[in-house]
Amino acid sequence: MLGIFSMAEPVTFPKGFLWGSSTAGHQIEGDNVHSQNYARELEEKFAEPSGKACDFWNRWPEDFKLLSELGHQAFRMSVEWSRIEPEEGHHDEEALQHYIEMFEELKKRGIKVFLTLHHFTHPQWFELKGGFERRKNVDLFVRHLEYLVPKISAYVDFWNVINEFNNGDTLKGYEKKANFLVAHARGTAVIRAYSSAPVSTAHALVEWQPENPRDEFDITRTRIRDWIGNEFFFHAIRTGEILFPYRDAEIIPELKGSCDFWSLNYYTRHFVTARKESGTGKRHDCNRLRPIDRDFYLEEFYPEGLIDRLGGLQDLPVHITENGFCCDDDRLRILYLARHLQALAEAIRRGSRIDGYLYWSFLDNYEWASFVPRFGMVSVDFNTFARTPKPTAQFFREVIRNNGFDRDLVLKYLPEFKDWTIYQA
Ligand code: BGC
Repeated sequence: MLGIFSMAEPVTFPKGFLWGSSTAGHQIEGDNVHSQNYARELEEKFAEPSGKACDFWNRWPEDFKLLSELGHQAFRMSVEWSRIEPEEGHHDEEALQHYIEMFEELKKRGIKVFLTLHHFTHPQWFELKGGFERRKNVDLFVRHLEYLVPKISAYVDFWNVINEFNNGDTLKGYEKKANFLVAHARGTAVIRAYSSAPVSTAHALVEWQPENPRDEFDITRTRIRDWIGNEFFFHAIRTGEILFPYRDAEIIPELKGSCDFWSLNYYTRHFVTARKESGTGKRHDCNRLRPIDRDFYLEEFYPEGLIDRLGGLQDLPVHITENGFCCDDDRLRILYLARHLQALAEAIRRGSRIDGYLYWSFLDNYEWASFVPRFGMVSVDFNTFARTPKPTAQFFREVIRNNGFDRDLVLKYLPEFKDWTIYQA
């Protein structure tokens, strides 16, 4: 599962490389009561609704202090549209002010702000109108941005218009992806009117591989999956063309050039089979070393996939806006982090310009339906909301301070690693 980690050479990053961590509103703030997710969690009686999440909405001063103590130079967060416009056309100025206070504090601390404007959640009223399923509704998102962006543009260093709309493998999903592309292009135009900070949309970069690498059908299905999951997005930004199989192509001129950098969220690889309608292939077998005591879709270390994918993305600077591992044994997280940083350094050596790395996530977060998968560098006790940095956070602090790491630093945190065999597949 984890492969052999050899570190003959120290891993170093270019001067000015930006280090930090990533979060999203609904997953940490708590009481995001006007969002469509919150409504669904209640309606469908989720066993674990988001509730207070990490109570970040109230505890952010403590969290930002911790960010500084742990040496983070950048922080990715989102503004919840449903807090800003809880009812259609009605703006909550107090909520806006609350976010502005957060941004001011980050600025005071010299921490760069990566801001996501749509991280999966939006107001329930927008959902009831059909959300991003309907092209016409993009106007409502743009209207929201026209209200919000001029009020906060002074604080934002990097923009993500939308987070990860690129996944999904159904014909119906194409329309929604096309609408999101239009929302991204129009959102970028609004941002550029008020801000010179770089803009992108965070892309879920998945390494798709054929379940059987010798099977022609698996290979073909994988190529298609890769197009409709990854490449359609890069193609649209490079050319302005929205192109999906079995759908008329569209040209949206504003799309062309609407990213200033590639914002990449990378976790692992997934296998594709031609023999299932869904295309979802077998999962990596993690029986020997289960990172958490629950079946979860992000279980394999596959940093090689990151190197492969970055090879095709050398036309713009890159920020890794998410990369992380959920596990109960924090040693695995340190290893995951070290191996992915090693992969990034290799990609840089092969010609990529990578400007920064944000670990997902700063805090243990609400993982959309559950609090079980723990991604945080900082643990959260979901009863008391107490925060406790894990050893990963200390390791990362030293990586930031040295702008890299060597074998000795890994061994300082993973002394048992001297016996290489314990982490071998
Ligand atoms: C999402 C996060 C999520 C993480 C781990 C990313 O796809 O942007 O919201 O928590 O993956 O599953």
